[in-house]
This record gives sequence, structure tokens and C-alpha cells, in this order.
Amino acid sequence: MPSQVRQLDANVAPAAVLEAGDVLWQPRGFFTIQDGERRLLSPDVLASGKNVSFDPATGHVGGSALAGELSGALRGMLARFSDESQAFLAGACPIYASRLVRGRTSFRPVEIAGRPSSWRKDDSRLHIDAFPATPVQGRRILRVFANVNPHGRPRSWRVGDSFGAVADHFAPKLRVPVAGTSALLRLLRITKTTRSPYDALMLQLHDQMKEDSAYQERAPQTAFDFPSGSAWLVFTDAVSHAAMAGQYQLEQTFLLPVDAMQQPERSPLRILEKIKARRLA
Ligand code: SIN
Ligand code: FE
Repeated sequence: MPSQVRQLDANVAPAAVLEAGDVLWQPRGFFTIQDGERRLLSPDVLASGKNVSFDPATGHVGGSALAGELSGALRGMLARFSDESQAFLAGACPIYASRLVRGRTSFRPVEIAGRPSSWRKDDSRLHIDAFPATPVQGRRILRVFANVNPHGRPRSWRVGDSFGAVADHFAPKLRVPVAGTSALLRLLRITKTTRSPYDALMLQLHDQMKEDSAYQERAPQTAFDFPSGSAWLVFTDAVSHAAMAGQYQLEQTFLLPVDAMQQPERSPLRILEKIKARRLA
């Protein structure tokens, strides 16, 4: 079944819906931009690239062009968003609460539509998320998004086929790397920790999906506009997604161990292990 976007309300069991590969959204998000933060809603906050990143563990802000008081305001907004994301996710999915590992926070102030990009970095092509530099070793990537556009503009996504269908489609072309590759990547500092066979296969899948124009056109897909002010939750390692248009978004990444899921067999790790008939992490 292709992924759907479903509203978070009293009729859904959030963790079950997320694990099944659907997106959960809430029209009125949990996060509000404060008056003093409106001046941060500009592409000028960027030094380069498309995101400002924030590490909640150290308080370090990366990729920002701001200095002084403005820089402090940006850090404050990102820290508040990060904390409120954790509370929002833990409230929606209490069974995950004690197992969530908080990762990076990002702020995306550039309009997506018309933005030039290489195919590999082009998030307007359907893809699943995989991290080149920070391997997850099988853990799930669970992300909280908030559209904070101040002009009432939506963030327009497409969501595509289930992870099982994507994996079946591309599996014949996925290659488990030869022994020694992950040690070499670590030695060369291309990765910060060891890239497991799982991480290698997920990166291949990310690239193969984006590179395959026929797949991009033919895969089952639905468009959904997340209104400004809304928030959503999604396992982006499993849900095919593409961001087509929109400006000003906040995002918080969490990692979740597979054994913290209600149904671990629905994880990309277990699905790929079944296809490849071997352990991958
Ligand atoms: C992505 O994770 O592919 C992009 C999501 C977004 O920026 O809306
Ligand atoms: Fe993505």
C-alpha cells in the first residue's frame, strides 16, 4: 500500500500508523514563532547551503551567517523547537519516549521550487532518507516537521510507495559492500562511525530511487500540502517522500532502536535482511 497522510486525532494509534508507513499530521502544530523571531525568517540567515543545523547536545549552530544578538535568537529558536519536538513526539508516541535518541535540528529557509540541485541532493525526487556521514546502524529515522511559513504558504510533498515495494523493486541492484569498505570509510573520515552494511544499502537505495526517472514518474504517489502552521511526524527512512515547494521549515531528527518498535519486522532493517537473507547491522 502506498503511504498516506493521516490526521493525528483520537481515532488513530500514532505509533502503529507511523510504523505502517503513513505520515501523521496535525493542522495546528505545536510550535509557534515568537515575535522576536520573525526576523529570522529569511534566506539571509544562511552562510551557504540550504539548511542551518543545530546540535541540541552541544548547542552548536552550523551554516548560519548571523552574528551577535541575532545569532543568539536563532540558537534560542532552534533549541526551543528541538525541546518542543521531543515533547510532541513523546506525547503522541509514549511507548517510544524513553528510547528516542535526539539528533540534529534543521531550519530550511530557502524556497524549494526552482532551486537548482544535483540529482543526488534533489529532495524533490522521491526518496527515502539515509545519512552518508552519520551511519544509523539499523536504527529508525523518525522526523518531526513544522511548516513555519509566515505568508500562509504550504509545504508541498509527494509521498510514494511502501518501503516493502520500494525494496522489492530495487533489491536486485543493491550490493552489500565487500569486507573492509566500512573500515576504510572510517579511516578516511568520510563517516564518523562505522558504516554498517545496512547503511550502505540504504544509501544505494536513496541514490537509485532519485536517479531513476522512470521510477519517479511511474511509482504510485500522492501529493499533499502541509498548511503553514501545521506539523507532521514520519519515519523518513521508510516513507518515500519528495518536497516540491515551500519555504521556512523546521525539522528535528530522532533515532529509534528497532527493538523499540511495536512491530520491528516493519523496519527497513528487517525487510532488507529478509530480502538479502543475512544480518545487515
Ligand atoms: C526531505 O527530507 O527530503 C525534505 C523535506 C522537506 O524539506 O520538506
Ligand atoms: Fe528526505
